[in-house]
Amino acid sequence: MNADSTHRDKVTLVEVGLRDGLQNEAIPVSAEDRSRWFNGLADAGLRRIEAGSFVSPKWVPQMANTEQVMAGIQRRDEVSAEVLVPNSRGLESALACDADVIAVFTAASESFNRKNINCSIAESIARFQPVVAGAHDAGKRVRAYVSCVVGCPYEGPIAPAQVADVVTQLLELGADEVSLGDTIGVARPREIHALLDAVFPLVEIDRLALHCHDTRGQAIANIYAALERGIRTFDSAVAGLGGCPYARGATGNVATEDVLYLLQGEGFETGVDLQAVARIGETICRTLDRPNPSRVGRALAAARDDSADPQ
Ligand code: HMG
Ligand code: MG
Repeated sequence: MNADSTHRDKVTLVEVGLRDGLQNEAIPVSAEDRSRWFNGLADAGLRRIEAGSFVSPKWVPQMANTEQVMAGIQRRDEVSAEVLVPNSRGLESALACDADVIAVFTAASESFNRKNINCSIAESIARFQPVVAGAHDAGKRVRAYVSCVVGCPYEGPIAPAQVADVVTQLLELGADEVSLGDTIGVARPREIHALLDAVFPLVEIDRLALHCHDTRGQAIANIYAALERGIRTFDSAVAGLGGCPYARGATGNVATEDVLYLLQGEGFETGVDLQAVARIGETICRTLDRPNPSRVGRALAAARDDSADPQ
């Protein structure tokens, strides 16, 4: 992509901060705040937003009350309210609150899957079969996440063929979209290219999404690589939410603000107001009493402070 070229393609961002981000935050956030932030992000132009997850509250207490979050959001035809579910029980909750997209999740690493959902990859796929069928019967779209697509905290590097195998099984189940997760933020562009080489023969490109965590600061480079290859759906989190405040160096998803800044510069259409997202990011960081990891978010806040300063 030349710096001076004008792209008119549309890029879709799936905002995952209120789920992937908040599920890792030490400070629990009220359902009221989570709904208010959802509504603000929709006002800013985001059209796909994860509201939370219906998982065991023993495993992930931060996501308890997702049904209250769903009840508090303003439903609009043009905004997809999405939730994550691990099993049929989660699907029931998701359908009860009329979520638009149901996301299931497994991994390309056996060890990670066991830690995350307490079963093997094969067991998770079998568990998803009734979830996907039930979601489709109810007229809902299904997103399937694959975690650890480049590396696993327990198993180290993951071969692209291993990812392709799991993606194949999820497509056979009927997943409408597959999101490829660099869960621990170890990927670099060369590894993203190898991953896409393995997955592209399996599925239409518009059914793929890339889900980058920014632990090693490579997420924007990886997204740029995937843009060059034609990927047009990316997951991101306002204010780069996520990571564990007690684990040194752990960070969350790539910040929505940082991705929007890149996309604007490359001439992609997103329909999202970067300044509005940045303001919500600042509010969230203030509420959580944490620094804002988004470089673009910090720069915009500083520019705003400067312009407000009479000196
Ligand atoms: P388990 O302990 O093996 O199974 O957990 P269980 O069936 O014995 O359930 C344990 C308890 O949870 C039981 O309660 C169930 O009733 C309850 P108890 O009888 O002990 O009182 N339970 C539920 N409660 C509410 N909603 C449900 C539900 N299901 C069971 N749907 C289970 C298995 C899958 C439930 C558990 O491991 C779990 O909930 N894991 C969730 C883990 C999670 O949410 N991880 C984060 C999301 S994945 C991610 O972030 C990666 C991603 O971002 C992509 C990337 O970055 O790679 C997507
Ligand atoms: Mg994630």
